[in-house]
Amino acid sequence: MRIAVFPGDGIGAEVIAEALRVLDALRLPGAVYLAGDVGAIAYQRHGHPLPQETVETARNCDAVLFGAVGDPSCDHLERHLRPEQAVLGLRAQLGLFANLRPATMFAGLEDLSALKPEIARQIDLLIVRELNGDVYFGDKGTRTRDDGQREGWDMMSYSEGEVRRIAHTAFLAAQGRKGRLTSVDKANVLETSQLWRDAVIEVAAEYPDVALDHMYVDNAAMQLVRNPGQFDVVVTGNLFGDILSDQASMCVGSIGLLASASLGEQKTAHGTFGLYEPIHGTAPDIAGQGRANPIATILSAAMMLRHSFGRENDAMRIESAVAQTLADGVHGGDLGGSASTKEIGDAVIDRL
Ligand code: NAD
Ligand code: IPM
Ligand code: MN
Repeated sequence: MRIAVFPGDGIGAEVIAEALRVLDALRLPGAVYLAGDVGAIAYQRHGHPLPQETVETARNCDAVLFGAVGDPSCDHLERHLRPEQAVLGLRAQLGLFANLRPATMFAGLEDLSALKPEIARQIDLLIVRELNGDVYFGDKGTRTRDDGQREGWDMMSYSEGEVRRIAHTAFLAAQGRKGRLTSVDKANVLETSQLWRDAVIEVAAEYPDVALDHMYVDNAAMQLVRNPGQFDVVVTGNLFGDILSDQASMCVGSIGLLASASLGEQKTAHGTFGLYEPIHGTAPDIAGQGRANPIATILSAAMMLRHSFGRENDAMRIESAVAQTLADGVHGGDLGGSASTKEIGDAVIDRL
């Protein structure tokens, strides 16, 4: 089990440390951890947010456990040198096009959701976010126009092949869940979205057992807080998926709870190569204080065991221990509690 560990910046190292302690407590046979620099820390040490050596380390492993990247001190840098390019570069270079972001209500957190408890209780959804395309990776730039005004642009596009492959991921996921899929787009305005919708409908013919519907993204944002229980699997593009998943996190209580898996086509001995990271960022406002919630990262490690190593049993052990920790009221500041990052890690390990 070769695992690349890239903590990154801000709270990245703090939350990764707890995930590693949890993995250690499982005594996984033959687990080997390889460190790598990403983000602002990599820029400081190597002059680049994603050094070639880090990419090589990832390629030599079965999975990457990733913290977070980004630092306000780097916001003035040329875009290709900014910390965020590390995660974007890994996703692109490793062909990780399918980002799975589950959001499930944990027992005991109903009153901590931003929603009314009876609404929050219904949440059990999976956002399948396309990760290699969209406005993120199109042509972009700024220029000064002839009239003297500065102008910026980012080109949004999807090829039908890109849409089809993420659609297959989402239909397969829906088959393994409640058999419902909602495709979220903005086809009433965007050509990219019309192509998206057409391609999803074509793929749907291969999955007659899945109930497909379509929703415009503005309505989806509203429905997510009105009645999130209506969603099973949601498939959407890179930008919409980014935004809706942060929103979904507050519906279950905190952004410190949501894990993710980023998968491509490359297989490992017992699963699929993947990158696993919390959906949150480096939280500069609380970094270095031992207050970050490590649960999103611990749950990302569980997803890693499931998807890259075929260790469903160990993944479920972690998930049950996390559920028990939360049910027992061990909550960090993000949930209105006082447990430190390390105390939450300890509580999960105690319950493994
Ligand atoms: P953020 O997710 O870092 O933080 C948003 C808010 O949520 C902050 O108030 C923060 O304290 C809180 N928060 C986030 N994670 C938490 C946790 N585990 N426990 C408790 N509270 C938590 O988003 P931001 O402030 O918009 O971005 C900060 C930096 O992180 C930026 O540089 C951004 O580009 C980067 N970022 C990186 C990733 C990534 O590496 N994948 C993801 C998102 C943002
Ligand atoms: C995320 C982050 C990244 C994204 C940024 C840091 C590039 O917000 O992983 O959700 O937009 O994908
Ligand atoms: Mn995001």
